[in-house]
Amino acid sequence: MKILLISDIHSNIQALAAVLTAEADADAVYCAGDLVDYGPFPREVIDLVRERNIPCVSGNHDERVVAFARSREAWVDMRPQDRHWVHQNVEALDAGDIAFLDALPESLEFIADGHYYHMRHRGAEGYELIQLLPEFEAHWSAGQSPDRTHEQTARVIIGHTHIQAVHYLADDRLWVNPGSVSYRPTRQDLDVSRDAEYMTVVDGEIRFHRLSYDRRKTYLFTRNLPLVDSEKRVGQRLFGGT
Ligand SMILES: [Fe+2]
Repeated sequence: MKILLISDIHSNIQALAAVLTAEADADAVYCAGDLVDYGPFPREVIDLVRERNIPCVSGNHDERVVAFARSREAWVDMRPQDRHWVHQNVEALDAGDIAFLDALPESLEFIADGHYYHMRHRGAEGYELIQLLPEFEAHWSAGQSPDRTHEQTARVIIGHTHIQAVHYLADDRLWVNPGSVSYRPTRQDLDVSRDAEYMTVVDGEIRFHRLSYDRRKTYLFTRNLPLVDSEKRVGQRLFGGT
């Protein structure tokens, strides 16, 4: 069985479409959250995720867009050049899209090739990582699967940090972060790659992937968006033309 693991799409439809095309033979796809915010095409991303029926958990940016949609009256008269990504994303979405984001579960679980998977957006508070086995077990036991036991192989899927990693805490206990489909962490100044990152799990074996894709539409659209200069500069750096 081939599983495609994606996370942190951040309204980047070009990257998402490229990854799904490159891994079209995947038997299942799962997304660890942050479908929207910090990219220009939230509606297209939600449409494609819904069309493909991709199970997703809710990320902090999904929650943020829902919160700003609910408080829209407070900022709707804001000048276009003062707007942030979150305002642009809310304006691009309709009530059905917001309801979809709002209904995303906090976590979900599945079994594949003998491994038990528990997926949620964050591993810990802020950008902390799961470092200790008791932390892992606490995270794991927050899940819902009724037939899970501690003897079964446990794999946690998290996103949020936009840093690809596989972290073993025991032979049969690990967490994976598939990286961001859209962009690298802005604080990671040395990493200039703008490729899409994701993982596949083929018959239980975890594989890292980086995919170069056509960013021109995302870059040009970002360049022309009415956004506050600081956010536009970040967007242009993330999706830069070179
Ligand atoms: Fe994210």
